[in-house]
Amino acid sequence: MRSHYCGELNESHVDGEVSLCGWVHRRRDHGGVIFLDVRDREGIAQVVYDPDSKESFAIAEGVRNEYVIQIKGKVRLRPEGTINQDMPTGRIEVLGKELIILNSAKTPPMQLDEYSEVGEDVRLHYRYIDLRRPEMAEKLRFRSKVANTVRNFLDSNGFLDIETPLLTKATPEGARDYLVPSRTHPNRFFALPQSPQLFKQILMASGMDRYYQIAKCFRDEDLRADRQPEFTQIDVEVSFMDEYQIMEIMEEMIRHTFKSLLGIEFEKFPRLSHAEAMRRFGSDKPDLRIDLELIDIAELMKSVEFKVFSGPANDAGSRVVALRVPRGGSLTRKVIDEYTDFVGIYGARGLAWIKVNDLDAGIEGLQSPIIKFLGEEVVNSLISILGAETGDIIFFGADKTKIVNEAMGALRIKVAEDLNLINCEWAPLWVVDFPMFEEDGEGNLTSLHHPFTSPTCDAEAFEKDPKAALSRAYDMVLNGTELGGGSIRINQPAVQETVFEVLGIGEEEAQEKFGFLLDALSYGCPPHGGIAFGFDRLIMLMTGSSSIREVIAFPKTQSASCPLTDAPGLVSTRQLRELSIRLRDQKSSS
Ligand code: AMO
Ligand code: AMP
Repeated sequence: MRSHYCGELNESHVDGEVSLCGWVHRRRDHGGVIFLDVRDREGIAQVVYDPDSKESFAIAEGVRNEYVIQIKGKVRLRPEGTINQDMPTGRIEVLGKELIILNSAKTPPMQLDEYSEVGEDVRLHYRYIDLRRPEMAEKLRFRSKVANTVRNFLDSNGFLDIETPLLTKATPEGARDYLVPSRTHPNRFFALPQSPQLFKQILMASGMDRYYQIAKCFRDEDLRADRQPEFTQIDVEVSFMDEYQIMEIMEEMIRHTFKSLLGIEFEKFPRLSHAEAMRRFGSDKPDLRIDLELIDIAELMKSVEFKVFSGPANDAGSRVVALRVPRGGSLTRKVIDEYTDFVGIYGARGLAWIKVNDLDAGIEGLQSPIIKFLGEEVVNSLISILGAETGDIIFFGADKTKIVNEAMGALRIKVAEDLNLINCEWAPLWVVDFPMFEEDGEGNLTSLHHPFTSPTCDAEAFEKDPKAALSRAYDMVLNGTELGGGSIRINQPAVQETVFEVLGIGEEEAQEKFGFLLDALSYGCPPHGGIAFGFDRLIMLMTGSSSIREVIAFPKTQSASCPLTDAPGLVSTRQLRELSIRLRDQKSSS
């Protein structure tokens, strides 16, 4: 039906006869002439109908926004003075001859350029209209290009694209599972995969050597801007490579993708140990576009009178840090109060500060609610350790290490955003040398990555003191977002069994849940490792979007539902009976 996309027309088509198909973006009636902006996936073209072509003119009078039409006409240059420089097709227009209405449309619930005035629920309910917006179409087009670029890179490096099951057993990545009841096996459930982790390891045991998949993953967890219950990974696994080789080739893939699609060239990614990242930035995914750092000042605060500082300074599980913010002296009391509330979200009980109004004036030049508790000597040492200058503000955090890291790490980013202290556009890095385990609040150990990650030490040393072990894991971080994570895996059944033990998974449970993996490890499993990138997060960052929902065609809401289809839905009693399921609240099904 169409000869050209609307958006591809330009001066080279002048005098050509064209047939366009698309939606009425806008209709303007200028007395004698009617202008239709016709829109399709590739852009917008202006079509003009004048009363000379009587029949079409009459039809044009009747069309409304979002009608689907086909037009035939001749391309011409726009008259002087009516050229629209902001529009790619702004130098030409089509003189319409024929006009066919292919379908009418009800008045849309939102005009395309007024989408921000309706709530996200409305946008998601009418997603087909929302996706007609050129900006959204562009994001999906870009997403498709990134997938292609990544596939081509991996294909040309000998990776095989292999699908793994969606109906499977639980694959632990730290979230709750989405379960699917089995009709043929009453009382039994499949789990949707949290990732293809176990299958890709088994593919290595199968000798596939280099695997990849752009894979759907399912995690029932608390949602945020960069998390969805159903999301996509670029999932990779290789045999006979160490962590440095894996990081190298994956860094190359990301570098290649940015270069070919955005024209951006990255330097070699810096590597930071987990311990250093936590110490300097309070985060295992530091945003290195920001220069601000947390400086430990516990030594200086050990014997001050101010208990808020001296308490944590003398406690091994706590931290006292200072965050010096250049130009922060201009922050008002109101903003400081807002920051105090902000750190409170992370459990901080306050936010002490010192403003350096005039460095040369000594203690008199400082303004702060806490100087009186610290004493002049400590304050002078502090100013000199931090290299503070006139115009700075210094914020302080003193509490349990976890609280200080989270609160001051988040404050570091917030202040940098507010005061325009973001220095560059892109800051990728690797975080390495993670601990194998972390303790939850109740003294139980959990894996920092997942239970299949290999320790850096040998089996004997690991058996002796598993808690002290570091792992052969690596995360790729971009602009403060964890883009991907992976590790060298355990390929010895005995080490895998020790990890299960440390995690409190008994022998029987380990056999029941992961027996097939332990078996695979014991029938000749090569050394192997891999990584998975959050594909949605990658697209979000590359397109400068505020949330992964903006780059997923049909995302779920923050409460994990789909306003378009109204999923999750009720099911019939008959269906439940077939599945041997009885609901506690019978009323909820029909
Ligand atoms: P991990 O759990 O770190 O590792 O996940 C890998 C990457 O997937 C992205 N991601 C998400 N994106 C959107 N919504 C979510 N809910 C979500 N959860 C994770 C992140 C993350 O870095 N099997 C291991 C990988 C491996 O070891 O090879 C795994 O899944 O960008
Ligand atoms: P207070 O003596 O409790 O009024 O606290 C004096 C200053 O220290 C105030 O600016 C508080 O916001 C701040 N403060 C209190 N607790 C902490 C803490 N745990 N870390 C950092 N600053 C704090």
